[in-house]
Amino acid sequence: MQGASSGNGSEPLVRVDDLTVRFPAGRAGFWGQEKLFLHAVEGVSFEIERGETLGLVGESGCGKSTTARAILRRVPLTSGRIRFAGQDITEVEGETLRQLRKGMQLVFQDPYASLNPRLRVLEIIAEPLLVHGEIKKLREAEDRVAELLELVGLPPEYMFRYPHAFSGGQRQRINIARALSLEPDFVVADEPVSALDVSIRAQVVNLLQDIQERLGITYLFIGHDLSVVRHISHRIAVMYAGKIVEVGTRDEIYENPKHPYTQALLSAVPIPDPRIEATRKRISISGAFPDLLRPPGGCRFHTRCPIAVERCSDEEPPLESKNGAHRAACWLT
Ligand SMILES: Nc1ncnc2c1ncn2[C@@H]1O[C@H](COP(=O)(O)OP(=O)(O)OP(=O)(O)O)[C@@H](O)[C@H]1O
Ligand SMILES: [Mg+2]
Repeated sequence: MQGASSGNGSEPLVRVDDLTVRFPAGRAGFWGQEKLFLHAVEGVSFEIERGETLGLVGESGCGKSTTARAILRRVPLTSGRIRFAGQDITEVEGETLRQLRKGMQLVFQDPYASLNPRLRVLEIIAEPLLVHGEIKKLREAEDRVAELLELVGLPPEYMFRYPHAFSGGQRQRINIARALSLEPDFVVADEPVSALDVSIRAQVVNLLQDIQERLGITYLFIGHDLSVVRHISHRIAVMYAGKIVEVGTRDEIYENPKHPYTQALLSAVPIPDPRIEATRKRISISGAFPDLLRPPGGCRFHTRCPIAVERCSDEEPPLESKNGAHRAACWLT
């Protein structure tokens, strides 16, 4: 299985090898003889270097969150391996897993659902410190919480307030402060700005970027909004129906997309340069997202692909180099 590395010789912080996640989905057939599985993630491989942001994009249900949750060991793997900071973490359990979790944190999409309304900001941000035994009493956390609030651009006195007092953007800053409380090396931001007002998305993304520059954190940034993903990512992986169909540097992906699915995703995004906007080809995808209980054979995109030929439904294209580290899984490009 080919990886999706940036070609750097040093050990990446995160390495995913041939990851497959299938969820049991009941039985089918007259006698219930066929066991069904939802094929959420299939044979996914990639690496994330230290201090790098890998953007992960693709339409709803393509397996982005499941991939992230598998890396964080929050969902059982069907097969594949996960390495983190040079260690194989695929099977770690118990106390070792608990310790490992300090180094990998998650920022969720919905800043309203993710903050407990009954807790003050101090308790919310300090909770991971208490859970992991870094502090014994809440009072001990005040200095650290003040520092974290400052880091995310909020006044320290906000620690004594409750979440209802804050806007969506402020809540997401609080979530980010919480995720950073244990000084993780790796943060998964799962659509962290999708639920926010368009006008404040850029502020939160810029904040994540500043934090990366200051602390050297590595991000997996999941998103729908391709302009947001472009802004923050060094490299981008495009997922379709559980598979990575293309991966490359941000500029390669945006300026020279190889996979018809990537091209279609991008053709929906307006380009600020009117000359390019006027002359470019628009590709629309027709048809429905495939049934992941019975994913299509060959290339999973062939049922919707505007340029598919017979081979595409028979043989699965490998994720192969199209230009150095820029890889795509397509027979035709
Ligand atoms: N715990 C679970 N049990 C069963 N099926 C699941 C589970 N979690 C996810 N799925 C299914 O796996 C597929 C991939 O879901 P996932 O949440 O990873 O997609 P996503 O790309 O993050 O989508 P979105 O953009 O909507 O967040 C979907 O069909 C989803 O319904
Ligand atoms: Mg998701």
